[in-house]
Amino acid sequence: MDNRGTFGSRFTATMAMAGSAIGLGNIWRFPYIAGKYGGGAFIIVYLLSAVFICVPIFLSESIIGKSTRLGTFGAMRTLAPGSRWKWLGLITVITPLIILSYYSVVGGWSVEYLFKAVAQAFGTGAAGAAAESVAGAAGAAERAEFASFISSTWKPIIAHSIFLLANALVVLGGVKKGIEKFTKITTPVLFVLIVVIMFYAISLPGAQAGINYLVDADFSKLTAEGVLSAMGQAFFSLSLGVGTILTYASYMRKEDNILATGCFTAGFDLIFAMIAGFAIMPAVFAAGIEPGAGPGLIFETLPYIFTVMGEQSPVLSGCVSILFFLTILFAALTSSISMLEVGVSYLVDEKNWSRGKAILIVCTGCWLLGILCSLSFGPLSGVNIMGNSIFDFCDKLASNFLMVLGSLLFVLFAGWKMKKSILADEIAPDGSSSVKIALFKILYFLIRYVAPLAIIVIFITNLLM
Ligand code: PHE
Repeated sequence: MDNRGTFGSRFTATMAMAGSAIGLGNIWRFPYIAGKYGGGAFIIVYLLSAVFICVPIFLSESIIGKSTRLGTFGAMRTLAPGSRWKWLGLITVITPLIILSYYSVVGGWSVEYLFKAVAQAFGTGAAGAAAESVAGAAGAAERAEFASFISSTWKPIIAHSIFLLANALVVLGGVKKGIEKFTKITTPVLFVLIVVIMFYAISLPGAQAGINYLVDADFSKLTAEGVLSAMGQAFFSLSLGVGTILTYASYMRKEDNILATGCFTAGFDLIFAMIAGFAIMPAVFAAGIEPGAGPGLIFETLPYIFTVMGEQSPVLSGCVSILFFLTILFAALTSSISMLEVGVSYLVDEKNWSRGKAILIVCTGCWLLGILCSLSFGPLSGVNIMGNSIFDFCDKLASNFLMVLGSLLFVLFAGWKMKKSILADEIAPDGSSSVKIALFKILYFLIRYVAPLAIIVIFITNLLM
């Protein structure tokens, strides 16, 4: 058990969990879908689902890990010996590895764009120049360059490999010298970086439109699909249902308070998403570009903004663009290492493998699947799985299906299979104040009834949509 490692303090455990939660999901997904589904109205639903559904899932998952000091499979084997739960636990070992495969492709894009920022080479490639001369539209060169980059064969694969290698190096250091050391620095730095960028963005002329896009509460845009998207976004953003929170909690010290860590992680994640929105949307609007969806928003529109800025002040543009892509890279890395750690801890705990061997095997698998995902933007774009490209299929399988299933599994396990006293010990141990005891009663009700029902509704709707 000693080779598992432990986080040194509650602060470092919280930074690791918050680092896992804060990722690409906050930076490109949240601002766009919040705007699309009614801004402030969307944020209210997001907040409600974070409090009433996500915090209960977070607590269930983390208490399963913390009380057993084992990863998903081992924890379920220990808490429900002889049952089939452990096999269900295995699902949540596989899900983060599927996510890691395609997440690392997008992580690779941020590596490439950081290099571009350092070289100040936005919109200058052959594809960009050709598009500029034909289309002449704002940002056409940057969009063409992004399309040409992701559809090429080797460059994105090399970037994906570099990104995955960085993950392997951090995780190889172990819990204390790798994950803890990395996240206790990068998570606070991330926060500072995004705040700096936000102040810059809101000072741009015309930025108000971007801020309004995000915060104006328009309930007419909040459709049923919008409500589901808000819940799904809360799941993805808090890294729930994939065993990462469980695994990180299993490295916490016994005396560290899980409720405080959970509330802090959820709050920090939301604040970060809002700040990222305030950093990105004003810049997009100030440049007069329509807010687009997905990775395109950061990789296509922001380089255009940096190009325009560079014409006025190359030094400022250089600094802001480097800071920006560095932020994206750090955010992606602190999330992806948490995905890798789930598979690694399974092989170390259950198969007694060394960390090095476990990392090599897991990374090789993710690298190969990631290559297929990357090629699905180019040479393999014709490959179609149930109407999706390989990349989209992996994303939908993991985030719409397996993550939701994993979350359901955790709340059902904690609410119906695990001894109530284990949960009580973490949230309101003997001798707690009456307020704490009342809080536990509410949380237990949420874990047993509200969260499972809500998840089942999301699950069925996702299957039907
Ligand atoms: N929460 C991360 C993000 O917002 C993604 C993630 C999902 C991380 C699952 C770990 C596990 O980008």
